[in-house]
Amino acid sequence: MIKNIECIDLEVTEIISLHKNFYKLRLTPPKWDWNVGQFVMIRPNDWGFDPFLPRPFSISQLDDEKLEIFFQVVGRGTYLLSHLKPKNKVKVWGPLGKGFKINLNLPILIIAGGMGIAPFVGFIKNHPNPEKIEVIFGHRMPLSCYPISEFPKQILIWTIEDKNEKDLEKLKRAIKVKIEGYSSDGQILACGPLPFLKMIFSECYTKRTHVQFSLERPMACGIGACLSCVIPSPHGENFKVCMDGPVFLCEDLSILFKQQPLIMP
Ligand SMILES: Cc1cc2nc3c(=O)[nH]c(=O)nc-3n(C[C@H](O)[C@H](O)[C@H](O)COP(=O)(O)OP(=O)(O)OC[C@H]3O[C@@H](n4cnc5c(N)ncnc54)[C@H](O)[C@@H]3O)c2cc1C
Ligand code: FES
Repeated sequence: MIKNIECIDLEVTEIISLHKNFYKLRLTPPKWDWNVGQFVMIRPNDWGFDPFLPRPFSISQLDDEKLEIFFQVVGRGTYLLSHLKPKNKVKVWGPLGKGFKINLNLPILIIAGGMGIAPFVGFIKNHPNPEKIEVIFGHRMPLSCYPISEFPKQILIWTIEDKNEKDLEKLKRAIKVKIEGYSSDGQILACGPLPFLKMIFSECYTKRTHVQFSLERPMACGIGACLSCVIPSPHGENFKVCMDGPVFLCEDLSILFKQQPLIMP
């Protein structure tokens, strides 16, 4: 069932270049109740047939002043988004999917790979007790590409560049040690490319550690109609990542990750 989803016209208020190919897009804010980990589908009003389909993006921040999306240019759609100008109109569907379940009173470990930091940006900036947050951030591009410098000083952040086998081993070790530290009462939230998530999955699955994973799959509709986002489920029927996720528990992803090679692209 589709609940509380709107399709509305919003106006671009600002587009900020953080670094070549990395942008923040600010839109006039819709009045939505939303959770960290939910996303929107965006389609500029002047798009014709190429590209035709909207593109999915995590809600990085939504408050009284702005809806903020943080994105990297990877293809034609994101290239065109990066050329939007203030006052341009875009159609936005949202808030979509199921977000993370978070208890603000408990310590939180966020494990993010590259653009996987996007859903956490507003959450980290606005958390009432930032000292309760620890972040492991694996990245390949320079740190200035990501909005890390905006985070409160109290959060503990481990940034690990991931450029070669040695870096990957360092990242794996940090993830292993930190997951063990948070396995009893903490909360572990993860987002990033599939091989990155599989690395975390390998640590937590056999130990039955409670980890919530946010997945990115190609999406054409965002509302359960097109089946472009399906993944196998251990419970029989496939999951639609746009509706059943994008946030899943470790045990939901056992079949998906058995099929996924543990090689960083
Ligand atoms: C729920 C969700 C949240 C997302 N949040 C963000 C975000 O906050 N910031 C951000 O930069 N990106 C995010 N993405 C990915 C973003 O939607 C894609 O990068 C974008 O759709 C690419 O559009 P394009 O036209 O530029 O590239 P395309 O020309 O469509 O594709 C370029 C390349 O990227 C690959 N690709 C496209 N979409 C995806 C995808 N979803 N997963 C993996 N590979 C893909 C294609 O296979 C191709 O190789 C999210 C995706 C999902 C599903
Ligand atoms: S994106 Fe269309 S069914 Fe999920």
